[in-house]
Amino acid sequence: MAQPQAAITHIGQARARIDGPLKVTGTARFTSDHHLPGMLYAVPVGATVAKGKVTAIDTARGRQMPGVRAIFKRGDLPIRRITPNFGESVMVDEARPPFEDDVVRYYGQYVALAVADTFEQAKAAADAVAVTYTAETPNVDPHLAAKDTKIVSKRGNAEKAYAGAPVTIDASYGIAPETHNPIETHATVATWDGDELTLYETSQGIVNHRNVLADMLGLPRHKVRVIAKFIGSGFGGKLWPWMQSPLAAAATIKLGQPVKLVLSRPMMFHAVGHRPGIAQRIRLGASRDGKLVSLQHDYVNTTSILDDYDENCGEATPHMYSVANLRVTSGLAKRNVGTPTSMRGPGAVPGLFATESAMDELAVKLGIDPVELHLRNDPKLDEGLRIPFSSRHLKECLTLGAEKFGWSHRNPQVGAMKRDGMTLGWGMAACSWIAARFDCSVSVELRDDGTVRVASASQDIGTGTYTVMAQMAAEMLSIAVELVEVVIGDSNLPAGALSGGSMLTASLVAPIEEAIAAAGKALIGKLVADKHSPFGGAKPNTLEFKHGRVTEKKGAQVMAFDEALRALKLTTVSGQGNGRGSFGEAKPKFSSHSFGAQFVEVTWQPEIARLRVARVVSVFDAGRILNPLAARNQIEGAIVMGIGMALFEGTEYDAASGAPINASLADYVVATNADVPALDVHFIEYPDFNLNSLGARGVGEIGLAGLAPALTNAVYHATGVRVRELPLKLENLL
Ligand code: MOS
Repeated sequence: MAQPQAAITHIGQARARIDGPLKVTGTARFTSDHHLPGMLYAVPVGATVAKGKVTAIDTARGRQMPGVRAIFKRGDLPIRRITPNFGESVMVDEARPPFEDDVVRYYGQYVALAVADTFEQAKAAADAVAVTYTAETPNVDPHLAAKDTKIVSKRGNAEKAYAGAPVTIDASYGIAPETHNPIETHATVATWDGDELTLYETSQGIVNHRNVLADMLGLPRHKVRVIAKFIGSGFGGKLWPWMQSPLAAAATIKLGQPVKLVLSRPMMFHAVGHRPGIAQRIRLGASRDGKLVSLQHDYVNTTSILDDYDENCGEATPHMYSVANLRVTSGLAKRNVGTPTSMRGPGAVPGLFATESAMDELAVKLGIDPVELHLRNDPKLDEGLRIPFSSRHLKECLTLGAEKFGWSHRNPQVGAMKRDGMTLGWGMAACSWIAARFDCSVSVELRDDGTVRVASASQDIGTGTYTVMAQMAAEMLSIAVELVEVVIGDSNLPAGALSGGSMLTASLVAPIEEAIAAAGKALIGKLVADKHSPFGGAKPNTLEFKHGRVTEKKGAQVMAFDEALRALKLTTVSGQGNGRGSFGEAKPKFSSHSFGAQFVEVTWQPEIARLRVARVVSVFDAGRILNPLAARNQIEGAIVMGIGMALFEGTEYDAASGAPINASLADYVVATNADVPALDVHFIEYPDFNLNSLGARGVGEIGLAGLAPALTNAVYHATGVRVRELPLKLENLL
């Protein structure tokens, strides 16, 4: 008999990734690592105009080249149009199936697909396809204006309060389109056995991917299986399927052999989403003592010709500040570019760049310290939804961050702080990111050797999902993490949740707990039913399953699940849990968000136009942190992206051709190690039990949310130049 044992605490332990050894030894197989017998290679042909019509596609030369199996074009592959539906898990941002018509609406739009025995042969054949177009001048104008705008959030009378405010700010902010550049480019390996389609995919949501592909190909969903065991990051670019996937799938069905399609880095800039270009105008009205009286936030983002992608820049605006009069409006500007999509922190992150820049401008105008200005305008409830916050500790983030950074030593005078002959700039920003759950199912199998299998059709995009799932199950069962086998990345498993919106971790807690409870209940049922078992004949309700042990409620008998299984001569007992989502609830009781404060020090040497990020201090209120190592790693990655967003990243479209002209990692500059100082990351841990029993939120996106404005506010402090367009241009600082 086992001894009663209190829960051992795996939650909160800094554990290295359980999948780390597989990755560093090269054992982990990513999508493009799959080599199937008889596999063919597909290379898409992208349009070389951004607006026009395909008048002819001549494939004759390509078809005669060695190894070429087929060159598909309009009419050759039956791919259906679907109606995107987020709630039903049939979501895509680009709804047009490939080859649907002859109209070209963006540069790189797929017009043909070459398939051959080798990648080189397919590439040569794709290059040999001659496409003729009637071309028109595309609209890729970076200056944005919307014809129609709609009100996203409104309270009081923002215009009137603004007109009467003693101190006002009216400023416009631009953000260049950013392209996702995960190390792993989008890829599909598709194979068809005549009945069932298997797709190895780069996907942040394998269940949604399965549904979309089944519908596009006209197959029953149970005949499509999507596998994504390892993913080389996604950042939102892999939330929904893009059109290389149905192309590869339709090609494998047509040819009867496996097909691999891996996008090149330049193709990543065409047809797999991006953060759109964004123009925002912020008008703030305040009293002389720094109380906001009016906030107007108007944003316009680019979208593609056919799809209305709304960046939702006002997501954080209504709940960030206490202000009686507020109005947020949105608008779209159609451009001849591929369809935009979510990019890490969609909506709130670009929105906060605008509002947090404007708050800094207001602080300067009022002569009030920006930390103090935030403290004076911290709301007691979500004034947009008029409901309480589940847990909001932004003030503590601000004060702790200020303390860790040494903010009290700041001289607010522009350019007044010096070190080693350089000018210092100190800036800060507050931030927020939504917290919620998605529907998520998990199965758990308890085994007679003391190990446990936890399975869900969720996926680990590199964030540590394998590890936190093992930690959760180990915690709930009071066993070692090493005894937990986590099985994810296969759509045949119980339907899991997206790796998106920083919501997967929070979504997994309840179903794992429920699945364990169900397995425990089943085990108790078997024990009492078996006369020869130690609990034979007992009433089931006198027993409970606690810490992985069948325990007498009143007596002293305790039996670990593996002992119980062995006593029953059973190898396993299993249970399933079905977690309910909270995202998009019509009438939420609480406003659930994570919060943070970020402080940046830059050094500026005008003599040589050298701007460096010298220090970043971040404090986050993101609920209970399940694994500080993985959480810190998420935040650090997000900060690196934030430095890129502020200083480097921007997709440029050629006005004549509509082509993204910096479509490579040489020309599209991202932050590198040399651009990033040591990062000081703190979590203040207030468990958010409204979200789940562990109080965990999610940390995938919040680390990016205040970085760009904190950095550009620091640049203002050093140089006196207000950066209102991202990425920052050094020449503007001189
Ligand atoms: Mo995130 S932009 O939901 O991957």
